[in-house]
Amino acid sequence: LRQIKADAEDFGLMTHDPGFNNTSSCRSSITYIDGDAGILRYRGYPIEQLADSSSYLETAYLILNGELPTKPQLDAWVHEITHRTMVHENIKKLMDGFHFDAHPMGMLISTLSAMSTFYPQAKNIKDPAMRRLQIARLIAKVPTISAYAYRKRMGLPYVYPDNSLSYTGNFLKMMFQRADPYIPDPIMEKALDVLFVLHADHEQNCGTNAMRSVGSSNVDPYSAMAGAAAALYGPLHGGANEQVLRMLQEIGSASNVADYIRRVKNREVLLMGFGHRVYKNYDPRAAIVKQLAYDVFEVVGRNPMIDIALELEKIALEDDYFVSRKLYPNVDFYTGIIYQAMKFPVDMFPVLFAIPRTVGWLAQWDEMHNDKETSIARPRQIYTGYDARDFVPVEKRG
Ligand code: ACO
Repeated sequence: LRQIKADAEDFGLMTHDPGFNNTSSCRSSITYIDGDAGILRYRGYPIEQLADSSSYLETAYLILNGELPTKPQLDAWVHEITHRTMVHENIKKLMDGFHFDAHPMGMLISTLSAMSTFYPQAKNIKDPAMRRLQIARLIAKVPTISAYAYRKRMGLPYVYPDNSLSYTGNFLKMMFQRADPYIPDPIMEKALDVLFVLHADHEQNCGTNAMRSVGSSNVDPYSAMAGAAAALYGPLHGGANEQVLRMLQEIGSASNVADYIRRVKNREVLLMGFGHRVYKNYDPRAAIVKQLAYDVFEVVGRNPMIDIALELEKIALEDDYFVSRKLYPNVDFYTGIIYQAMKFPVDMFPVLFAIPRTVGWLAQWDEMHNDKETSIARPRQIYTGYDARDFVPVEKRG
């Protein structure tokens, strides 16, 4: 574009695209989405097949490396992750310093950025082996930090990782172990693993865009991931699952749904968990999560919130307001109901999104640093302020 500038004062051609609706920020071979058809694939594999037949750590390997692992590769990868789960003892002291009612997502974001000070060699981002080491560390340690954040919030002692358990089994134990030995329920362990597969990556969403944008300054991955996690925390992004449950609690019963829909149509409130920047069809992840809810209910009993959610979906999908705007349930619509049934407190919901998204952020960050096209993210603007004017001393200002 610089080559078509008429003179030095000419901007050349510049697009104005707030929210990047029509802007591609990178080339990526990780995740494919067709929002109109409701298709999501990681490295070419449909999300439905991965949710059905893969595991989170296997999917993480696929996302990072581009191919499914052989059995020895998978074993080595699982061993590496499950033997990097411990965090430095001073992380516990850092956790202790938070206010008693600190939000776990705030604690996670802060701890991620603090971790850059524990691994100063991570700033060597030009070294692919060094990048891979930090990626393994982060995938292994984020569940530990997340569980610590929960235990701090609850005033409970921290539980050390148990490397004999699966990725999700260990996380459940670090979260929920009390005085007795804790054996994770295999259905819960599997359900959480499927939810983690579904959340592993989603191309250039707000959090991933933040990861690439912050990372494009060549900062270390811990600092970049703190930025990505902060973006995810917002109620329009990963914070939506928390907002969905608060909305269902506010509605209270299926008989109040019609009135809530009326308020949505009056633009007083949003229908949280509905709508998506890319999907203009049913989010394929939402369909899997909805089914998964019933597996979890078989173990823990039916969550009454599901009836309100089903009624909301039924009314919305028949209403022209939602149909004409192509507003369908997104992944967050049913996940909160499952997390609540699993006994996760509501403010842990965005954390449960951040844990599996760790691999997506890091794979995209790694891909960016392997891409010769990458340059620092630095958009332009359309200036709407004053022309040049002279400074007025304070005593002369009216
Ligand atoms: N409830 C009511 N109306 C909605 C909703 C909603 N959840 N989402 C969009 N709309 C309406 C808008 O008001 C707009 O209507 P208009 O054209 O009459 O003004 C129209 O649908 C188009 O909406 P946009 O805001 O242009 O859609 P956009 O793609 O920018 O926003 C977003 C997507 C942010 C996800 C939005 O749908 C939303 O706020 N949803 C609720 C929050 C949510 O569930 N977020 C999770 C997203 S998934 C994820 O992050 C994992």
